[in-house]
Amino acid sequence: MKINKNKPVIVALDFSSLKESLIFLESIDPELCQVKIGKQLFVSEGPQAVKKINSLGFNIFLDLKFHDIPNTVEAACLAAADLGCWMVNVHASGGRAMLEAASNAYANLRNPPLLVGVTVLTSFSEQQLQEVGYVGALEDNVRKLTILSQTSGLDGVVCSARELGLLSPLTGNQFLFVTPGVRFEGESKNDQNRVSTPESALKNGADYLVLGRSISASSDPLSRISLINDLSINTQR
Ligand code: C5P
Repeated sequence: MKINKNKPVIVALDFSSLKESLIFLESIDPELCQVKIGKQLFVSEGPQAVKKINSLGFNIFLDLKFHDIPNTVEAACLAAADLGCWMVNVHASGGRAMLEAASNAYANLRNPPLLVGVTVLTSFSEQQLQEVGYVGALEDNVRKLTILSQTSGLDGVVCSARELGLLSPLTGNQFLFVTPGVRFEGESKNDQNRVSTPESALKNGADYLVLGRSISASSDPLSRISLINDLSINTQR
């Protein structure tokens, strides 16, 4: 089973080299968390980084946020499955045809990656969203993109934990919520806008928490991961 409620942490490997990533990975444990490979590491090191980190036993969320014509996204999703990724994402704003193509890519696979749609990036504020042409409140856009993702066959969405109170009653128990923008009490938001603490994300129903700097810049990454795992056991949905 891919969904492990006792292992909700996805650590973002936002490093520019595989070497740096491997050094960091020595300080964490694939039994306790998943990892995320995003644009920085993938562009620098390519598929070999996915293969190498997979071989160490880590489940990999390939965070390339595909957004293109349906045929291209379908092919990219299949390529990510061939690489052995555990989770893959696409921009929900790519539209129904693109989302259905992504979902169709996995329809006949025996052990497909989880497919999640990015709603509105946690770095966006209400004002920034309007500036790029979205109409209506940010939360309404997150809600619409969540319903679009679910009705297009995706397994879940990426959103801010702050929006879960609104979303989880709409989608049922099987739909996944992946929440970046997580910060421990008192930490800097950096470039994120809609942040939550791990405790409040879990209480609000997050299935997976994406943490980058909070863990990778910590002097004791493993104890932070274990703390969140313990919180999760005590906060089952
Ligand atoms: O360091 P921090 O915890 O802010 O890192 C968040 C990670 O999650 C980054 O790798 C970022 O690309 C990713 N992410 C995000 N918002 C999304 C999707 C992914 O911040 N909606």
